[in-house]
Amino acid sequence: TSDPLFNGWQGFDDVYRLIPTSTPALSFLALINIPTVVILLNVLRQLVLPRNPSLPPEVFHWIPFVGSAVGYGTDPINFLTTCQKKHGNVFTFVLLGRKMTVALSSKGNNFIFGGKVANLSAEDAYTHMSTPIFGKDVVFDCPNEKLMEQKRFIKVGLSTENFRAYVGMVEDEVLDYMNRDPKFLSYQAKDAASWGQFDPVTVLAEMTILTATRTLQGNEVRSGMDKTFAALFADLDGGLTPLNFMFANLPLESYRKRDRAQKKLSDFYVNIIKARRSGQTNNDETDMIAALMTQSYRSGTVVPDHEIAHIMIALLMAGQHTSSTTGSWAMLHLAANPDVADTVYQEQIAKFSNPDGSLRSPTYDELRNLPVLDSVIRETLRLHPPIHNIMRKVRADLVVPPSLASPSKDGYYIVPKGYFVLASPVVSQVDPDLWYNASKWEPSRWNDSEGQAQKAFRQYTDENGEKFDYGFGAVGKGTESPYQPFGAGRHRCIGEQFAYLQLGTLVVTMVRSLEMEIASGVPKPSFHTLIPTPKQPRMISYHRRQLDKA
Ligand code: HEM
Repeated sequence: TSDPLFNGWQGFDDVYRLIPTSTPALSFLALINIPTVVILLNVLRQLVLPRNPSLPPEVFHWIPFVGSAVGYGTDPINFLTTCQKKHGNVFTFVLLGRKMTVALSSKGNNFIFGGKVANLSAEDAYTHMSTPIFGKDVVFDCPNEKLMEQKRFIKVGLSTENFRAYVGMVEDEVLDYMNRDPKFLSYQAKDAASWGQFDPVTVLAEMTILTATRTLQGNEVRSGMDKTFAALFADLDGGLTPLNFMFANLPLESYRKRDRAQKKLSDFYVNIIKARRSGQTNNDETDMIAALMTQSYRSGTVVPDHEIAHIMIALLMAGQHTSSTTGSWAMLHLAANPDVADTVYQEQIAKFSNPDGSLRSPTYDELRNLPVLDSVIRETLRLHPPIHNIMRKVRADLVVPPSLASPSKDGYYIVPKGYFVLASPVVSQVDPDLWYNASKWEPSRWNDSEGQAQKAFRQYTDENGEKFDYGFGAVGKGTESPYQPFGAGRHRCIGEQFAYLQLGTLVVTMVRSLEMEIASGVPKPSFHTLIPTPKQPRMISYHRRQLDKA
């Protein structure tokens, strides 16, 4: 108050002098500590102060800043459905200082996935976490139009021609893994009476990265997997946690390891590209690097090497946990439902039996026509979509359509600029009003062509509807479907077909080789990782199915 720079503050001296210093009220306040006062004021603000009627209802919370972090972090799906019962499909909760407005139901999904870039930004919501992992100038470290062009380049690599080459590679990797990994000693023993156990989370993570590097990532990366690449990947992966989502940078070893690994991996890919460009190594490959090296932006600029490197890292990370946890859940459900595993196996026998009774490998085109296998993957993604909550940051005040939620007959809600919006397709994917036995894993629901599941799927693929081109080829919008495991709209996943190929080949190869059981049943998900993983206990017991044919 004595510094002339703070003249304005000196006026408060007079105010302070008016405050009595020894009233009973103040003595009482002295007894309680500052955190209690802060909590009290926060509660009073929510319960007593009048609210702006155009703001969506706010979820009650005790501690300011922290908000509903504990409830949401422990079980987001339960948290959202409980709030939905109380507040309806649109409400706001506080998550570590951020205001998150949730929009649920098919209309809520459409509100967020169908939003305009001018209003809703994925890069503003994610770049603090994704850029240190992927690297500069790609995905969320560039304007949205550039990402749309990058998605167009990636689609060139995800061609049917490449996919035809991949099925055999994935099968090879899975069989090779089971033939040499110590977790499959009982399989290697070639004795059907020999039972072993494996942890699906570990096995599927290893199989997923081996198969992704063998196919999309290319020979050099696959060879690196046996050397330094795996360790760098692990360090980079350590940067993809809920902590990283909340805090972009902290002085912690995991953050330093992330940054070192990003730099080394980026250099590793750039060296591969340079060697291919100079003709030192072969670029006549079916992998993504080869495809990206042929692409240019609409401006005519060839995709620079560092961007190719960073897109490759982004694809590795985007496909790893999503596919590997989906695979783990699929194996757990198959182990808990041997009758379903048997129908998957019978489908293989019906389609791929050789005259001598052995099974031949499926081609890519055949793999796409296996309804039982398809239903297992679709149903697993319905109950366990790996990306269960999707966020955007609000760039300009956003009107909530009254058909989704409104404060009164004639009013409407506004989500202010600076808030985040959150879509959670899993809530509509397990909505008991839409799906019979909604929480049960029942692949057979996908067999009924007129049933709810197929109806939702047709809506998702927008088979007969209008196609939309966001810059990476025409796609069905699918924004209003209650089934959206791969998102919808401009940010929709482009790895879907690859994921089906990889997961499908993995599942059939394992089902052909093993019979599985799980005594402890299918575990509940743990939400302590960004992508929910099955809790312990989760060991699957297995024995070798075909002694001489697998
Ligand atoms: C986007 C799910 C596998 C690459 C997305 C989104 C979802 C998703 C929900 C939308 C995110 C958003 O709107 O913010 C899945 C699931 C997978 C899977 C469930 C496997 C089961 C893959 C694979 C790749 C991949 C294997 C790469 C080969 C991408 C890319 C985007 C994306 C490039 C676009 C990001 C954007 O436009 O913002 N994925 N994904 N995904 N995914 Fe996947």
